[in-house]
Amino acid sequence: MCGIVGYTGKNDAYPIVVKGLHRLEYRGYDSAGVALMRDGIQLFKCKGKVSDLEDHVGKSDTSGSAGIGHTRWATHGPPNDANAHPHMSMSGELVLIHNGIIENYDSIKKELQQRGYEFQSDTDTEVLVNLIEEIKKQEEMSLSTAVRRALKEVIGAYAIVVMSKNEPGTLVAARKSSPLVVGLGGDGDFYVASDATPIVEYTKNVVYLEDGEIAELHPDHEMKLFNIKEQKVTPFIQELELHLEQLEKGGYDHFMLKEIYEQPRSVRDSMRGRLSINKGIVQLGGIADYEQKLINAQRIIIVACGTSWHAGLVGEYLIEDLARIPVEVEYASEFRYRNPIITEKDVVIAISQSGETADTLAALELAKSKGATILGVCNVVGSSIARTTHGGSYTHAGPEIGVASTKAFTAQVTVLTLMALMLGNRKGTIDRSRFQRLLLGLDAIPDKIERALQTNELVEKISAKFKDARNFLYLGRGYCFPVALEGALKLKEISYIHAEGYPAAEMKHGPIALIDEEMPVVVIATKGPSYEKVVSNIQEVKARKGVIIAIVTEGDTQVKEMADYTIEIPEIEEMFTPLVASIPLQLLSYHIAVMRECNVDQPRNLAKSVTVE
Ligand code: AGP
Repeated sequence: MCGIVGYTGKNDAYPIVVKGLHRLEYRGYDSAGVALMRDGIQLFKCKGKVSDLEDHVGKSDTSGSAGIGHTRWATHGPPNDANAHPHMSMSGELVLIHNGIIENYDSIKKELQQRGYEFQSDTDTEVLVNLIEEIKKQEEMSLSTAVRRALKEVIGAYAIVVMSKNEPGTLVAARKSSPLVVGLGGDGDFYVASDATPIVEYTKNVVYLEDGEIAELHPDHEMKLFNIKEQKVTPFIQELELHLEQLEKGGYDHFMLKEIYEQPRSVRDSMRGRLSINKGIVQLGGIADYEQKLINAQRIIIVACGTSWHAGLVGEYLIEDLARIPVEVEYASEFRYRNPIITEKDVVIAISQSGETADTLAALELAKSKGATILGVCNVVGSSIARTTHGGSYTHAGPEIGVASTKAFTAQVTVLTLMALMLGNRKGTIDRSRFQRLLLGLDAIPDKIERALQTNELVEKISAKFKDARNFLYLGRGYCFPVALEGALKLKEISYIHAEGYPAAEMKHGPIALIDEEMPVVVIATKGPSYEKVVSNIQEVKARKGVIIAIVTEGDTQVKEMADYTIEIPEIEEMFTPLVASIPLQLLSYHIAVMRECNVDQPRNLAKSVTVE
């Protein structure tokens, strides 16, 4: 996590860097800081958000045409002023920002302490900047050479940008396992950031750094790129597809609400060019070369974290149901450390909105090293996971800024649905008429999401009744079980109310003991094969005085009679329920969080992109 940004060129760096930090704040918001190059290094940093940093800077002189900035998600040391980045070397010659973790920082720190270095913070980053200083002190060398040599001694993950007061205007940027992108401005200026969002309004020409690469950026000079062996590399310049409007709230109070409302469009975009009703086909270009491999796979293993893991569960149900290929869904963080059995006959699919989640990336690398075919379902184009995999499908949901994943989830499920349909059709496990019916059903989903969004007012009223609840239970069966898990995660992460998702039938094996008149129970009780069973589960809750909020199919009467509150969504094929039933649950968590005055887009302790283990 953490967001880093840098600029060097003809303009004042401060406004560019601070604006960039606002864009990157989704990556962490424990503290923020900037360092500006002007007759030496000017440093401003404090605990809190980027707006706190702006208050802290106040009317100070912020001129200087090179600068770096950082917004922190704390790993080493609590969020406070001292631990805020940028960190300066002891002599004050160097200043550095860092996203990642230096695993061997303790041993390096001890060595440096023996040489007389003193540290102001608890961070691994301050160790790194002093290591560079120590190497630079030993003999005459450029900043970039010193950085390269220091990084050879470092174990861990990093994206860094360093400045030296002895080389004003030069930025040295390097990455390993944490993302970094360089923007090439038209006037010979350079931008560098954790992702392209701080860069897009200045230039569309970018270079995504590869692991082990180090860039030397100096205005009016060509970008110099080296690999860790100190060999020169030719930068691969790409054109950004990102648009500025996608990064703004567009009249909504929060990014989360905007993103919830974008879903009819984002789900349509996920299907665009992939589903053709007229031709009766589904195609996913990015995995076309691996179709046979998937069909013949001994197993498909889906690895993911959080919401993406919930999408993976839906994917398991879909692929097993439609294509009859065995699927396992694994938490990436467990999979990577539990010595799993992986062979060349397995296909491992990583699901990740950011494409940067450290555990998911590591799980994929493990699978790749064992000879498995690895594919990705990512939202962020050019992300680390997208570049590590053999093939994959982008979700095309557009940038998701709210920390709580909404449109990324439905886009992931859409891509997995297309994948299952494509495989089932090729394998012949779905007959032609069912296939055609499902294509029509999927094509109609954006309109059904539009109708589900019309429940907003009702959901807001229901939210008002439960904003002070201390616990929530979410229940669902079949395809609605992952929806229950996702609904509970949404509520807890943005409103800080404890919530659990359960398969409805599991309730009687433990959680039913929790039920009393204080316990709201959200049940996804839409029409489908397990409807009657869910009705029985609702009765079990009612018998114990639980309060039922039910998501039902339009026209339902049976559940309506039993439930305390019902929210109707349009009738859909059972396997498409996650795409529509999630909408009122996203709205429920959103409204409850707003009523509790929580920071919806930046919930406490969280970050959008989890690049640490
Ligand atoms: C969900 O709202 C969270 N933001 C979180 O669970 C997220 O889905 C998880 O961290 C995985 O992120 P990824 O999709 O970017 O890999």
